[in-house]
Amino acid sequence: MNSTIQTLLNHKTIRSYQSTPISNEILSTLLEVASRTATSSGMQQASIIHVKNQEKKDIIAKVCKQDYVAKAPILFIFVVDQHRNHHIALEVSQKAEQTYDVDRFFQGFTDASLMAQSVVTAAESLGLGTTYLGAIHNDDETVIKTLNLPKLTYPVVGLLIGYADVQPTLKPRLDVSMRVFEDEYVSHKEYMPHIKSLDEAMMSYVDTRNPGKTMPPFSKQVSERMNYANALRLKMGQNIMKQGFSFNLDE
Ligand SMILES: Cc1cc2nc3c(=O)[nH]c(=O)nc-3n(C[C@H](O)[C@H](O)[C@H](O)COP(=O)(O)O)c2cc1C
Repeated sequence: MNSTIQTLLNHKTIRSYQSTPISNEILSTLLEVASRTATSSGMQQASIIHVKNQEKKDIIAKVCKQDYVAKAPILFIFVVDQHRNHHIALEVSQKAEQTYDVDRFFQGFTDASLMAQSVVTAAESLGLGTTYLGAIHNDDETVIKTLNLPKLTYPVVGLLIGYADVQPTLKPRLDVSMRVFEDEYVSHKEYMPHIKSLDEAMMSYVDTRNPGKTMPPFSKQVSERMNYANALRLKMGQNIMKQGFSFNLDE
């Protein structure tokens, strides 16, 4: 055990922040950590938009349907960024034929996700709280427009950072044996017996967004999610292609 592992094992999403600002020193450390994260092929195919403008924060909060997004001291949006390398290649060799493909898109997507997680770990190690915002995909077109994201970029995830105003408990997880397999994937005939203890633990977990109310069992949360679609989110594929990426889905 060491302090890094303790930080990781103590991770909890924070959804209410104090108004205390984050010092410039901490901010630049977090950005340095982001930049130092491993990157596919060394190509650094992800960037961060630090959203400071209050009007833009308000728009993102509306997209996310979460008020506290507008109030958190730091809002970062991590983006796939092939725009930069596309232009570097054009300047060097007047061509950039493989900046559009599915492989490059997912290299950028992974880079952006890893950068975000490095920042989360660093922020939490400094006593800060964080919230990932996948909800930016509720309306990716609005996010793209608001942040003036050019072709060959795409928003991956948002991240709030600030000093926590709430102290949630650890949210229960599946047993490690359900998510880690040796040599090959293990599929169970029936899952319910394996997730009984998680279902029970979830029923005593209180989400700070609904104080005084416990969560439904994990299996119920899953079945609701697996039967719900947000019409705008279903357009993500088209919007990624509108940003200039080509998935070449023909067999
Ligand atoms: C990619 C990603 C997107 C997420 N998007 C949101 C979000 O839009 N809003 C939110 O409140 N939490 C979001 N979360 C946080 C998850 O809800 C949270 O991690 C999960 O419920 C487990 O809780 P814990 O982080 O406290 O352990 C997101 C997490 C990840 C990894």
